[in-house]
Amino acid sequence: MESTKFARIVLCDTSKSVCDGWRSMLRPCSYRCGAISVSVYNGTLGTLLKRDCGTVAVVSPGNSFGFLGGGFDAALCRELGGEQFERWFRSQLGDRYHPVGSATVVAVSDSGFDRRGVRYVVHVPTMVAPCRSVYDRSKPVATGYSRAFDCMWNALLWCPEVDTLVVPGLATGYGGVPAEVACKSMVFALRVFAVRDRELQNILIMRFLGEWYRGFFGERWARECERYGIDVKALERFDASRDSIDEILPWVSM
Ligand code: ADP
Ligand code: NA
Ligand code: NA
Repeated sequence: MESTKFARIVLCDTSKSVCDGWRSMLRPCSYRCGAISVSVYNGTLGTLLKRDCGTVAVVSPGNSFGFLGGGFDAALCRELGGEQFERWFRSQLGDRYHPVGSATVVAVSDSGFDRRGVRYVVHVPTMVAPCRSVYDRSKPVATGYSRAFDCMWNALLWCPEVDTLVVPGLATGYGGVPAEVACKSMVFALRVFAVRDRELQNILIMRFLGEWYRGFFGERWARECERYGIDVKALERFDASRDSIDEILPWVSM
């Protein structure tokens, strides 16, 4: 880990299949990703926040316009002040469009809306608007794996310093991305985030997203992979919709 912005990540969801998905993908890395400890909470955000989590940032799997009317966002909105909070929150987003996969950190501290340790909301639109599922089964990597990965990655990248980062299933509600697809992408994002070697990290991400442009990595990449015990052949043929992430993520501490 280049920096430990948060000590703890709590993956929180009311859906059992989402929680089971996280648990099965996390088991081999024993709920630690680099310096971050990861836990799964199968319950509501409201009940989780009643526990002492220290200072908290909550990821909002929102829409591009910042409305908080449904799903996890509605629960978050209820916790922080209802309609008044929603109005204030949207004004913090400039009352304007934010593309899917972008991340905007809204500081709740000193706003009058900070409750239960929540200092920040990290707004990550998982869809433009909750009209229909974004998932197309004939294009799983483009419409499912990439979307959930990008949202999780951006949340990790831009989350400010707190004790606990709370993340629900991303695009697993209105988004309609199957739990196993979103969970694999989210756990991959967590694990690859902890990879110290930046070039190797980039190679792994590019392959997970189904792209492969050797020109970016010169001659070093094969040696790099060897050094970490990654099977180059497995990496080259890796398909997120088919293969286990264990095939390309090494166990050695990086
Ligand atoms: P998305 O648009 O990204 O699909 P949703 O808010 O519809 O966002 O769903 C995201 C996840 O939040 C889903 O997996 C859903 O089960 C979960 N969820 C919805 N309400 C709550 C809640 N009150 N507490 C915890 N998880 C919740
Ligand atoms: Na959403
Ligand atoms: Na939502």
